[in-house]
Amino acid sequence: MKKNCPEDFKNFTAEIKVASPGRINLIGEHTDYNNGFVMPSAIDKKIYFEMAKNDTDNLARIYSETFDTYVEWDLANIKKSENSWENYLLGVIDEINKLGKTFSGLNCIINSELPIGAGISSSAALECGFAGGLNELFGLGLSKMDIVKLSQRAENNFVGSNCGIMDQFASVMSKKDHFIKLDCDSLTSTFIPAKLNNYKLLLINTNVSHNLADSEYNTRRQECEDAVAVIQKEYPEVSSLRQVSFEMLQEFKGKIAPVPFKRCRYVLEENKRVTATEKALKNDDLAAAGKLMYASHRGLQHDYEVSCKELDFLVDFSEDKEYIHGSRMMGGGFGGCTINLIEADKIEAYFAEVKSAYTKAFDREPSQIIVVPDEGTIVTKLQ
Ligand code: GLA
Repeated sequence: MKKNCPEDFKNFTAEIKVASPGRINLIGEHTDYNNGFVMPSAIDKKIYFEMAKNDTDNLARIYSETFDTYVEWDLANIKKSENSWENYLLGVIDEINKLGKTFSGLNCIINSELPIGAGISSSAALECGFAGGLNELFGLGLSKMDIVKLSQRAENNFVGSNCGIMDQFASVMSKKDHFIKLDCDSLTSTFIPAKLNNYKLLLINTNVSHNLADSEYNTRRQECEDAVAVIQKEYPEVSSLRQVSFEMLQEFKGKIAPVPFKRCRYVLEENKRVTATEKALKNDDLAAAGKLMYASHRGLQHDYEVSCKELDFLVDFSEDKEYIHGSRMMGGGFGGCTINLIEADKIEAYFAEVKSAYTKAFDREPSQIIVVPDEGTIVTKLQ
């Protein structure tokens, strides 16, 4: 239920504060739901929650400062809302309920510095931050991994988006100044120091988000799963593309149609690139890491076909600049940001140049976000 925000609501005394980050992904795109490798990190741009119990059994009172919207929910009767941001939170409540954990009424104020539709996963930040806050406030006894998984389930089951686990994992588990190499099959991870020296990570937001994104995301997933089903008939031990080698895939050339075949090949290649990027970063070879970013983009553009002309324009524009090591689309695709590994003192001039060219080409301005790999969710007890 939506009401006007009561005058005194914002004056409640918060018991806890949560800082819940967005995420970047250096490399490893559309590999998470194929049980492959990804290399994300949380960033220094976040959603903040202030939360306290109230004296009711079932009333959640939530105010989004970002949307200047106040809502009240009956915790015993959770229903989908037409306001999309609410569903990420409602989904979390629903999944906590399913775990048989109970809690009582609460007040919550939310403030976000994450742009929506930019591909930096404001949705995972909302889910994981709220789940982490409820966990602390009501002593639910959930582990970090429980929070990651229930937040992903909230998105799959309640919001209805069939995402993988990368975004939630990065938002919760990240470590300042590190990338995570996550194996989405075993869910084991290692931290890789983000020693960027005089380089920085610059996101350039196309400021478009084509509405193909959701349907095409699900189609890609399905194409990969259907291909795995074909392979499984001859190799019953195969349960995802992770167990498929290049040689094995080659055997199915005529049996899997050309389009799904190239999707699979892309996934296998991208997994290899993540491992190669890990090696490059460990060898302090940022130039090699950057080349792998370009190769990732070209795979996403031509084989996985989830890019768009705005993203391609930004990547093409960067390619002959010797002070940019790498550039690629980031996240699900069809809009959102590119991630660029660029010399720090060139950012200002480069952005001015690319902004002017992009605006001319698309009659729309891009925006820039400089990001630093940062800590996952931080929950602070205030009293
Ligand atoms: C979205 C999804 C992730 C992942 C990426 C593509 O961000 O939420 O799970 O699949 O797309 O890599």
